[in-house]
Amino acid sequence: MNNNIYNNNLKNEIISKADIVSIISSYVKLEKKGANYIGLCPFHDDKNPSMSVSPTKRVFKCFSCNTGGDVITFVSKFKNISYRDAMREIGASLGINVAVTKKELEMQKNKKYYDIMNDASTFYSFFLNHADDAKNARNYLHERGLNDDIIKRFNIGLSSDNDEIYKLLLSKNYLPLDMMQVGLVTSFGSNYKDYFRNRIIFPITDLDGNICGFSGRRYLVGDESSKYMNTSETIIFKKGQILYNYHDAIPKIKGENRVFLFEGFMDVIAACRASVENSIASMGTALTFDQINAFKRLTKNVTVCYDSDEAGINATLRAIEMLAKSEMEINCVTIPDGKDSDEFIKKNGEKALNDYLLNHQVSAMDFVYDLYLKNTNLNDLASAENFKNIVFKYLNLFNSNLIQERFLNKLKDQLNISYDALFDDYQLFKSNHQVDKQVPLKNQNYNQNDNLNVEEFPSFDPYENQDQQLYKQQSNIASYEKKAYIKSERKLIYAAYMDKVNCLEIDSKLKYAYVLDENRNILYKMLEYYQSREKIIEEEFNKLLTEEELLTLKDILKKEKSFDFDYIEDCIKKVKDYPIFKGIESEKNNGQKRSLEDLDDLITKKKKITIKKTKRS
Ligand code: CTP
Ligand code: MN
Repeated sequence: MNNNIYNNNLKNEIISKADIVSIISSYVKLEKKGANYIGLCPFHDDKNPSMSVSPTKRVFKCFSCNTGGDVITFVSKFKNISYRDAMREIGASLGINVAVTKKELEMQKNKKYYDIMNDASTFYSFFLNHADDAKNARNYLHERGLNDDIIKRFNIGLSSDNDEIYKLLLSKNYLPLDMMQVGLVTSFGSNYKDYFRNRIIFPITDLDGNICGFSGRRYLVGDESSKYMNTSETIIFKKGQILYNYHDAIPKIKGENRVFLFEGFMDVIAACRASVENSIASMGTALTFDQINAFKRLTKNVTVCYDSDEAGINATLRAIEMLAKSEMEINCVTIPDGKDSDEFIKKNGEKALNDYLLNHQVSAMDFVYDLYLKNTNLNDLASAENFKNIVFKYLNLFNSNLIQERFLNKLKDQLNISYDALFDDYQLFKSNHQVDKQVPLKNQNYNQNDNLNVEEFPSFDPYENQDQQLYKQQSNIASYEKKAYIKSERKLIYAAYMDKVNCLEIDSKLKYAYVLDENRNILYKMLEYYQSREKIIEEEFNKLLTEEELLTLKDILKKEKSFDFDYIEDCIKKVKDYPIFKGIESEKNNGQKRSLEDLDDLITKKKKITIKKTKRS
């Protein structure tokens, strides 16, 4: 069944079965008045009862503040929870099961990481605004035209030159391993260090508005390290799926029916200062189809405002191609003198940038045409032929009769040939160059919760569309491999659960090297538990697990029963070989400080497990 229909049915079933009067009266005192009930409205400062509840229409309505809706709306507003959560809550009391969505599971699973990011961000922002040491940084920002309102709005902060974040997070009882997982802390031998030091911190939010990473800009005179340092890829920070300012800009993008796409977040901030608030940027990486899909849901109109230097122009051409394949309507703005919007605003002011962005847009076809015409010598046959083919290439990409006619006419004059001859050439070109339009495909990745009652809810899920054919094939291979590794992990957990000796063996050979951190957590909890026990007592142990870990463990115990412990070694090897760790190794080579050895060190030190090994019988 179609998901939308399914969810609507579920919603209607809940609304029709729930007793709206009794549910609302559990929060607000209601009195019968005619066919309806009235009470004080909880959604504004109500003095006389102005909320009416109709048991026949199954709605509530406040005649003073206009809040109204069905019983699910009431509960979600009253408790400040999502509509979906309210559905689940009311459903539970009626015996109707509202399944958890994949996305909700993902959120729950990663909650501690988001908590860490929020706590860190609060500190960074406090530090910028209150620390004496922060004067230089505040001056730097003010000099760049970022006043206190902008600093607040973009949640800008500052990292200290020592390890405040590590200390802060430790005092909040987060594990160093988790701090490292989100990229805030690195380890050197037995010491931990903050990753961001002496940098102005820009929090990065994911498409749902959760802080998932940071970018730190150097600001101290004489600091020769790289201009920006970003959180490296983590479980919650995937650059290719993130767009700076996306979540805040959603209503503005919809309202203006256009999105402005920039290269850097400084440009986005400049654009917002210039009241062009429907602005977003990719995080210093090339545009991806995931990102395009995210804003394509909000508008079909995009204005590309990349830097006008050579790199920016190349990036623009690449973006145009991808956006055209995604059937977007594309305009381009070229900021004069090879500059970006941030430099433009500094020189010319906010009003000038506003005017430039809004009134100097050209269509992508005009952009391409003029760009290549500038570099063409029409008297040189090869150069003219090359120009013609480039124009053909883009006309073919846009595939619009209007654009086609207009530019073929322009081109025929430029090349001084007849329309018919040019048209014949174009037809020939088209038959030799077929354009593959991007068709969004479902994400095929293996879901570790395959076995749970997980229903797909057609909510806005950026991770759902991974839509390049090639990408899909690759991720299928990856997910196939991943599946095999995860299977091995599950078997190991089973073995560890059944016998302490197995648990110790697995720990000593595998250490932290798990593919799924949920599995890792379960094993760790076992290891801790075994410190004082020889055998797992189910009831006691289960209490140590989160709800989700418990579900996973139960599933493992049920499904991996037939595992033969002779194969523990093989499974360990499989897990160890998982390519993720090749990934970490290559990160290390890129100068990141999260090497396997560091982690190894950390874990041995952290656990200090002193259980004597007994021989396996
Ligand atoms: N970037 C990065 N690392 C760098 C340089 C750039 O990650 N060493 C990314 C950042 O996300 C930045 C974007 O690429 O926002 C654009 O880079 P650039 O144009 O160099 O930055 P500006 O926006 O001009 O930043 P500033 O004005 O502070 O120099
Ligand atoms: Mn700049």
